[in-house]
Order: sequence, then structure tokens, then C-alpha cells
Amino acid sequence: MTNATESLELTRVGAGTPMGALMRHYWLPALKSSEVVAGGDPVRLMLLGEKLIAFRDAAGKVGVMDHRCPHRCASLFYGRNEGDGIACVYHGWKFAVDGSCVSQPNLPPGQDFKDKVHAKVYKAQERAGLIWVYMGEGAEAPPMPMIEASLLDEAEVTIMFCQRQCNWLQALEGDIDTSHFSWLHVGSVKPEQVQDDNWVKYQVLHRAPEYHVTDTDWGTMYCAMRPAEDGQTYWRFAHFGFPFWTWVPQGPLVDRVQARAWVPMDDTHTMFVSLVWKKASQTKPLANGKPIPGAAPAIEYRPNTTGWYGRFVPVQQDENDYLIDRDAQRNDEIYTGITHIHMQDQAITESMGGIVDHAFEHLAPSDQMITRTRRRLLLAARALRDQGAIPPAVANPEVYQGIRSGERILPETDWRAAYDDGMKAALRPVAFAKAAE
Ligand code: FES
Ligand SMILES: [Fe+2]
Repeated sequence: MTNATESLELTRVGAGTPMGALMRHYWLPALKSSEVVAGGDPVRLMLLGEKLIAFRDAAGKVGVMDHRCPHRCASLFYGRNEGDGIACVYHGWKFAVDGSCVSQPNLPPGQDFKDKVHAKVYKAQERAGLIWVYMGEGAEAPPMPMIEASLLDEAEVTIMFCQRQCNWLQALEGDIDTSHFSWLHVGSVKPEQVQDDNWVKYQVLHRAPEYHVTDTDWGTMYCAMRPAEDGQTYWRFAHFGFPFWTWVPQGPLVDRVQARAWVPMDDTHTMFVSLVWKKASQTKPLANGKPIPGAAPAIEYRPNTTGWYGRFVPVQQDENDYLIDRDAQRNDEIYTGITHIHMQDQAITESMGGIVDHAFEHLAPSDQMITRTRRRLLLAARALRDQGAIPPAVANPEVYQGIRSGERILPETDWRAAYDDGMKAALRPVAFAKAAE
């Protein structure tokens, strides 16, 4: 049970809130590098409830700053990218990517005070085809997270963004709520429709798995277990990592290099950012080369706009009922009647409301990963607020190296040993010792 105080503390991300303060200790994957062009137009960026702009100077350096000009608060979104900085079009003050003021052309000679005025700038770095932003107040940013998929070269990783119109936590919780897969996504699939080498068959045959959940250095993890053939067990391992990362079990543990971030834009909008190694195992067809019913190959997006909420908005929306096909639902062709697995999740988490009313919930044993993850987040946010404790993995980002989600089939054994053994055998596309330098 999450009470009203806890609910507020968990969901609000603005400056000065407990969770907002926690989030501001981490590097946030905010934009695709390709969205911000050298010498090109500034991009509106909403992050943790703050309105920012991102632009790239002529040398290719990225600047991320409050959209308000520090003179009289005109929006720098309307500014001119003049190569050596963004010039506010109100009175011409110009700011370089590091926030320094390089020009105050409306002031007579001798009256300017360029060295005393700075744009409110946040640190930015690029890695794996993404622009990462640090919104903390410390002079020094922490090291970047050693998340395996984020250490891949841009050419080796598939990146997907998708905006979700709801609070970050309820969106994230869909990724750690494993039992919904057997219903929301494959509720209409019959065991005989699944070919023998596809492990989805275990999720179709056994729709109420047993769980283990535990705290980890990076957050929380679970193992869901279902019976397999010959007395063996089908194991699914998955994780939550501070502050908003998930690793979902969508393939064999051995090569499933991926990570998913649920980056809060504000309290009721979230940017989903997915990174997947291009050489990871592909999802197998269910039967005769056919995908899971309703699993369309790609999400269709509206054209991006320059608005605060204009980036990576899918066509399927609450306002068009996510293009639900009631006949397909009624005929048991697609359990939800909604096309595309990610959109099925999107429809359901958005349907809970902008911020879910936790007082209305009745959490069950199948939600123990959610319960434990909320507790971990709350304890960390409160330890930061009350004792100034640095949140998990900020100072020791190497803990993320131990994370891989995925599936294994093994004789019944200790679940943690099954995970640790699987990790020893895991294919490693990134040499961590080198990456740590
Ligand atoms: S408000 Fe930007 S230069 Fe005056
Ligand atoms: Fe899902």
C-alpha cells in the first residue's frame, strides 16, 4: 500500500521535490545526438519539469540550458544560432554552449557586464548516439553510468524514443510487472499456436508465475519461474536500476544487451528511451514465421513538432482509442484489440491517468517487484533529503555492469546461482576495464 505522502514523494520530479532531487544526481539520456545539428535550430527540451533548449555550435559542441534568457527571460528557443553561441533576439545577448555571455550588443561600450551574467546551463555529454544531461547543482558531475548498452558505439546500438503521457513511475512499473505479459500481450495466444523453440510457450502455458524479488546494489531484481520440460525450469530475470532504468527479459540472457530509461519530462509526461545491441538475439516468430498477434513491426509516429511535448509522439493515442480493433478483440485474434506490444503497454499505463491514484490500488503478490522498487526509491529519496546520502550507483556506476536481463532454461537450482552463472557465460560486446578509463 502506497499512502498519499509516499505517492507524492515518488511521483513528483520538479526542482525541490524529494524524487526530483534524487533524479538530479544522475546523468539523463535526453535527446538523440541527431536531433541537434551543428549551427542548426535550437530544440525545445522538457526535462524534470524544466523547460530547456539544446543547440549545437558550429564546432559541434552541445549546449543545454534554461530556455529563458537571463536578461529579461525571453525564450532562447527563438534565438539565432550564430555559430559561437545562441543570440537572444530580444536585445541580442549571446551565450556560448558553456553558458558564458559573449556579447551584450545593446549596451554602450563600457557599460556591459558579460563576465557577470551566465545562462543557466547544464552539463551535457554524448555517448551511444545520445545526448546526456546532468541537472545536478554540484560543480563536478558524477561519472557516466556504466550501463552496458550505453557503452556501445552509436553504430552498434538501436535507439528508440517514444513519449508517454503519464507519470514516469507508472510507465516504468509496466516493465517490472512480468505477469501482465501473459495477458496484455499474449492473452489470446493458445499453446498450440507457439512453435516449440519459442519460449513464449511457457508464458502461455503457465500464466501465473512464481517470483523471487531482491534488493541489489543498482536497485532491485526479480526472477520469475515457470515449469519447463523434463523437470527443468524456465527462468526470467529482470531489473530496476536507479533512478529510472529497466532491463526486461526479452531474449536469452547470454546476449540480451539492452537498457530502457523512463525519463521524466514533467510529472505527467515521460520520454521512453530504449537501447538495444544490434547483434542481440531477435524475437522469434510464434509459428510459421508469424509474430505475436498484434505485434506490428514498428510504431508509427506523428511528425515531430518544435513544441515542448512535440517529440516522438505515436499516432495511437487516447484521443483515438489507440486505434483499437474491437472485432479483433472479440474474436480473440488480438487480446487487447490494440496493435503493437509497446502501444498495448502505452494504452494501459496512460489509461490509469496522468498520475495514478495509488489510494485506489489493490496490490497483489504478483506486484511484489513494484512494491519493493517503490520502497527502494522512497528510502533513497528520503536518505538524500534527510541525511544528504548520495543515491545508489551515483558514485559507483560500475555496479550497472552486473546487469543483464533475459531468459534461461535449467534444472531447478538456486535462482541467484542461475543468474550469476548465466552472467559468467554472457557475451560481452564492451570491455568494461577499457570503458572505465
Ligand atoms: S531578454 Fe534576452 S537579450 Fe534581453
Ligand atoms: Fe508489456
